[in-house]
Amino acid sequence: MTVIEKKKEAAAEKLQDDSLSEEKLKSLMQTKVFGRKLLYLEAVDSTNTEGRRQGLLSAPHGLLVVADKQEKGKGRRGRSWESDAGKNIFMTLLLRPAIQPEHVSMLTLVAALAVARAIREETGLPAMIKWPNDIVVNRKKAVGILTEMNPEKQAVGFVICGIGINVNQIGFPEEFLESATSLYLEKGERVLRAPLIAKCMECFEKYYAVFSRKETMSELLDEYNELLVNRDAGVRVLDPKGEYGGTARGINNEGELLVEKEDGTMEKVYAGEVSVRGIYGYV
Ligand code: BTN
Repeated sequence: MTVIEKKKEAAAEKLQDDSLSEEKLKSLMQTKVFGRKLLYLEAVDSTNTEGRRQGLLSAPHGLLVVADKQEKGKGRRGRSWESDAGKNIFMTLLLRPAIQPEHVSMLTLVAALAVARAIREETGLPAMIKWPNDIVVNRKKAVGILTEMNPEKQAVGFVICGIGINVNQIGFPEEFLESATSLYLEKGERVLRAPLIAKCMECFEKYYAVFSRKETMSELLDEYNELLVNRDAGVRVLDPKGEYGGTARGINNEGELLVEKEDGTMEKVYAGEVSVRGIYGYV
């Protein structure tokens, strides 16, 4: 092999190198604040738990915690989040927003919009939002978001926004085969994690600035609703006070999902303990 061929091979290998490090992530960051302070860990219990620890230690707004592997990855509703090493993205952004506690749930929507946009820009995949916490690609879940507030329910001290992206995972447990996917499975080729993390931060910072101007979704409404996977589709709202069906019509300025019932009345669904399912399954 000639020297030039060897150099080309080394460059190609470097291009395909999907390892993560603090240095690599920092070198790719295009932001002013988000992810500029960065904590990279090869293994952690949960990046959300670490984010909370950092928040309590007075870490700044915009700190990003990234881990290659989580030992106790947390999902919504007390579920666990599968977090093996070397394939997926597990990250948590620490925010110190000067907003009302009742507006914190909208940060999940801002995060979802940012991650969907980042996936589209980085991979060309048609990422869509399943209100409020998930991102789907070709109607299967590829991203979960878990936003937590500290302290709970009182004045907002800090918020941790945890994002899990199935990037290069190939297999899923039997029970998720129908509803889960990864970017690799949808694209048919590996996706590099570090540039995607940097793009997520870039998009998140941009949308967060727009959101913060009014503390509502008003200026992001059209863009959000365009990416809403079940817009104008039948949904079932699993409200603990009583399940009902209708047609999802998009979100309003407060981030609530508008669901039109058969009798023509419009319900506003608040992202709390309520789940929304497609009438034929997950989407
Ligand atoms: C869901 O249930 O859909 C939300 C999953 C959120 C998973 C991410 S991975 C990074 C961060 N750390 C955690 O422990 N959970 C979130």
